[in-house]
Amino acid sequence: MRAIQIERTGGPEVMKPADIDPRDPGPGEVRVRHHAIGVNFIDTYFRSGLYPVTFPCVLGSEAAGVVEAVGAGVTHVAVGDRVAYAAPGPGSYAEARTLSATPVVKVPEFLDAPRAAAVMLKGLTVQYLLRRTRPQRDLQPGDFVLWHAAAGGVGQLACQWAKALGYKLIGTAGTDDKCALALKAGAAFAINYRTDDVVARVKEITGGRGVPVVFDSVGKDTWERSLDCLERFGLMVSFGNASGPVPPVTLGQLAQKGSLHVTRPTLTTHLATREAAQQMADEMFAMIRDGKLVIDAPRSYPLEAAAQAHRDLEGRATTGALVLIP
Ligand SMILES: NC(=O)c1ccc[n+]([C@@H]2O[C@H](COP(=O)([O-])OP(=O)(O)OC[C@H]3O[C@@H](n4cnc5c(N)ncnc54)[C@H](OP(=O)(O)O)[C@@H]3O)[C@@H](O)[C@H]2O)c1
Repeated sequence: MRAIQIERTGGPEVMKPADIDPRDPGPGEVRVRHHAIGVNFIDTYFRSGLYPVTFPCVLGSEAAGVVEAVGAGVTHVAVGDRVAYAAPGPGSYAEARTLSATPVVKVPEFLDAPRAAAVMLKGLTVQYLLRRTRPQRDLQPGDFVLWHAAAGGVGQLACQWAKALGYKLIGTAGTDDKCALALKAGAAFAINYRTDDVVARVKEITGGRGVPVVFDSVGKDTWERSLDCLERFGLMVSFGNASGPVPPVTLGQLAQKGSLHVTRPTLTTHLATREAAQQMADEMFAMIRDGKLVIDAPRSYPLEAAAQAHRDLEGRATTGALVLIP
């Protein structure tokens, strides 16, 4: 079975084609034959060594395809079902993968494999961030939220979902063209964070008050500015490190900037039980069925071109989702 794996950490050049044997599923596991494999920024963290892995390591945490075999005790999917998953760890850049059945869900008819692979990990992330990660005073329709990298894979889904919930999403992005994409996806305002003063613009848009919550996946480069955009008792949601990890935080800073709250959530924690994984996916699929979340055909690469996909993603040359086709 063809796969893309690494035997050491480093740049995209460490990703090599490999021939590996698919494993039979054990109790509670399934084997999925992949038709499309999602590419996510987290894949670059495992490749670079920012997140730990054991070698050899097949990268990738998301895919869509068909169930090929089920282990003992698995009842919610059967051989032949069209399924998709966002997995807690790497192993998806391959023609098939054996994994825990917990996060594996059936895919509705209206979603083809490339779109399913484009939306599972990113869409479920937006689900838990907007629906399960709430500031102290909670959010009401009409409230502002600040979302960095709003033209990216996760970002464009967030623009749509926030609009559907009635929130005014202020999106940031690295070029004016990307800002235009965020606005098209549903952002109420867009700020080019490479050329504009984000804090001043946010204060201007919110009448000086700031936002109740910031969703920050950029990390090092935006951390400080994000804190300065929050209203009193606001919630800083740090959920990624596209520019590098956030430097050590002094708790006194949170006090000085207005009794702020901080959380550092992961999709893995939210998907830990079968019930939660299914409930989150059901809600996301309903959003797609009802036309509130429109999933564009993702940019596709052959499996063998996974390294190029990483170069494009880390080079900030992409918008929306990327998938590999095995
Ligand atoms: N914690 C979780 O549960 C979870 C789950 C899923 C994703 N995430 C995080 O969410 C983020 C988005 O993931 P994604 O797969 O959808 O990627 P993406 O947003 O499509 O790509 C990352 C974007 O980050 C921006 N960026 C800012 N500074 C950057 C830098 N120095 N280098 C590279 N990019 C930079 C770029 O947009 P601009 O050019 O507009 O700046 C780039 O397009 C990632 O940080 C990821 O780790 C976290």
